[in-house]
Amino acid sequence: MMKGKKILLGITGSIAAYKTAYLVRLLVKQEAEVRVIMTPAAKDFVSPLTLSTLSRNEALADMFAESTWSNHVQLGRWADVMVIAPLSCNTLSKMAQGLCDNLLLAVYLSATCPVIIAPAMDEDMWKHPSTQNNLKLLKNYGNKIIFPATGELASGLFGPGRMKEPELIVHYLESFFENKNPKDIEGKNVLITAGPTQEAIDPVRYISNHSSGKMGLAIARECKNRGANVTLVLGPVPSKENTDGMTVIHISSSDEMYDACHRHFASADITIMAAAVADYKPEMVHETKIKKTDTIPEVKLVKTKDILKSLGEIKGEHQTLVGFALETNDEKANALRKLKTKNADYIVLNSLQDGMIFGADSNKITIFTKYGDEIRFDGKPKTEVASDIINTVLKYKSTVTI
Ligand code: CTP
Repeated sequence: MMKGKKILLGITGSIAAYKTAYLVRLLVKQEAEVRVIMTPAAKDFVSPLTLSTLSRNEALADMFAESTWSNHVQLGRWADVMVIAPLSCNTLSKMAQGLCDNLLLAVYLSATCPVIIAPAMDEDMWKHPSTQNNLKLLKNYGNKIIFPATGELASGLFGPGRMKEPELIVHYLESFFENKNPKDIEGKNVLITAGPTQEAIDPVRYISNHSSGKMGLAIARECKNRGANVTLVLGPVPSKENTDGMTVIHISSSDEMYDACHRHFASADITIMAAAVADYKPEMVHETKIKKTDTIPEVKLVKTKDILKSLGEIKGEHQTLVGFALETNDEKANALRKLKTKNADYIVLNSLQDGMIFGADSNKITIFTKYGDEIRFDGKPKTEVASDIINTVLKYKSTVTI
């Protein structure tokens, strides 16, 4: 299960650091690729030579050593996961505040892989409100936590604060990799819309909205990782996101999105409409740029085609259709109305009242199902929201054929 997995192990200055020699040994035994980064203080507790020998890679600690500085970004991109064990109170606090005064912190801040932390410290430090607040921050940033065990501490006290034993950290990693990419929609065709649409007024102007496309892109990546054949109909989004392994159809207007969706819908097992489609478009598009004159021009708007509704009307028994609802008020009533009128199986509600911000990396959703369920989720990174959406759809697998 760990074979070939790229694990970046960060070690900080805690007495539990001595156990990492055994942790590295266990990981390497399972054929994981391990690279070690240490804080300067960690070197007082465990020798870099021991870790280099066991991991078969040089253990790095010096931020400004030749080649190390330029490597810090690559390391965070190389890894499938970064595990920081043991995580001292000091480094935990620095991570929460975004400080960057050693190599481990530089790698952590630039890591694009998931990060798992295994704190270890004295009981009173662990219980201190500032530590607990920092921990909440790290959780909100998407870090996963292996909570410390209760037992005898280096101070001689007894309580919570002991780093989990290496075997348990390995077990945690095994289930992390198992759950990370379950291939439970292997070979299924998934059609996803994401981003805004742009409705042209003339060759240089258009009507659009603030959608960043991040939620739809996260869902597309989640489906791809879980083995699906993903067709992504993508509106104009600002950043270049990773869409490797997907069929991407770039569109601009709602009409183009409508056509693309209808071309691919018949073969889709699951369709997820995360795009923020403009509800109105100019009745006519001027062929040339509208010039500034003394009279104020009027742009007459007409309704765009409701793509989700049109798919709901032709949906087959075997197909699953998921819509989104972005609401500022009467959230539940509006979401339920959309579920019914658009003949969707699920509506994912984003409420602007929940403090959601356009373009943010996290989201808080409630899913309404055609079976009458209302499932609320905590605010979390969009990558995890994507997984919640797919898990919810699959939960009804026994009643919906997908
Ligand atoms: N949608 C669509 N085509 C449109 C408008 C919306 O396919 N022309 C889809 C969105 O992708 C989303 C769902 O419909 O999955 C809900 O969109 P929303 O704009 O929230 O709902 P509307 O139907 O436009 O209703 P309202 O303006 O009342 O919120």
